[in-house]
Amino acid sequence: MKQVLAAPSILAADFGRLAEAVQSVEQAGADWIHVDVMDGRFVPNLTFGPKTVADLRPVSALPLDCHLMVENPQDHIESFAKAGADYFTFHIEAAVHSNRVIQNIRAAGMKPGISLVPGTPVHFLDEILAEVDLVLVMLVNPGFGGQHMLPSCLEKLVTLASIREEQGLRYRISVDGGINAENARRAIEKGADVIVAGSAFFEAKDKATAVRNFRGR
Ligand code: DX5
Ligand code: ZN
Repeated sequence: MKQVLAAPSILAADFGRLAEAVQSVEQAGADWIHVDVMDGRFVPNLTFGPKTVADLRPVSALPLDCHLMVENPQDHIESFAKAGADYFTFHIEAAVHSNRVIQNIRAAGMKPGISLVPGTPVHFLDEILAEVDLVLVMLVNPGFGGQHMLPSCLEKLVTLASIREEQGLRYRISVDGGINAENARRAIEKGADVIVAGSAFFEAKDKATAVRNFRGR
């Protein structure tokens, strides 16, 4: 059975108490901490920058799964690497020279991830799937937490899982947006192996149970 990882998003946390939020993710037994970076241009919202990542780095040993919803992602590679980011996932829609960005992320010592918004088809990634460690499939239009999942996006997981199998590739398939304890299983059945959840984690009374549910068991 494939191992499914749970990656709670601190976008849904109280930003005045981010260290406590990160500790609660670790205590709940989750695998990664998902950090949503928004620049107010690629998406209509502003959140964290490299200083937040650097300040949170010593709070937990869990990997920091940074999701950059920003224009010009190449401009932020060095600062996020210095801050201690583990994954640097950027949007295919934001980078013309995506192959170069991926190479630069790896050269900076981070794991490269690529993401796509609901309106972008999987085949836009054809030429770079062999180069990335993570593909993050957005199930909502990015910018805000607490939205409803768009079920049609789940079919992209089937495509990504079969390409991975056919071509012998190794990327993880992550899903992000509107995931809760009930629909996580559906995403896993379609091919997801990393479950990102913001509201459903931070609103859960029993966070350890929420994490187990995200993993589909
Ligand atoms: C949305 C972000 C997501 C968000 C998910 O733009 O990329 O990571 O935090 O939040 P929920 O789980 O509340 O939809
Ligand atoms: Zn995200």
